[in-house]
Amino acid sequence: MKVSVDKNACIGCGACAAICPEYFEMGDDTKADVKKGKEKVAKADEKKVKEAADGCPVNAIKLQ
Ligand code: F3S
Repeated sequence: MKVSVDKNACIGCGACAAICPEYFEMGDDTKADVKKGKEKVAKADEKKVKEAADGCPVNAIKLQ
């Protein structure tokens, strides 16, 4: 599974970084970024990353 943040959709609410700080951080643009090297989600972390995606109020977190 791969994860990315749609910067156009993100409103900077910060929920993803709160739920799953291992994968998401807030950028200088006040929007979320996937942390460097974390674009490919480890099998063991999929649940947590999905939780963060579900917690995003504008569905800006894309899973593939
Ligand atoms: Fe943005 Fe959604 Fe995270 S609005 S800060 S991607 S929870």
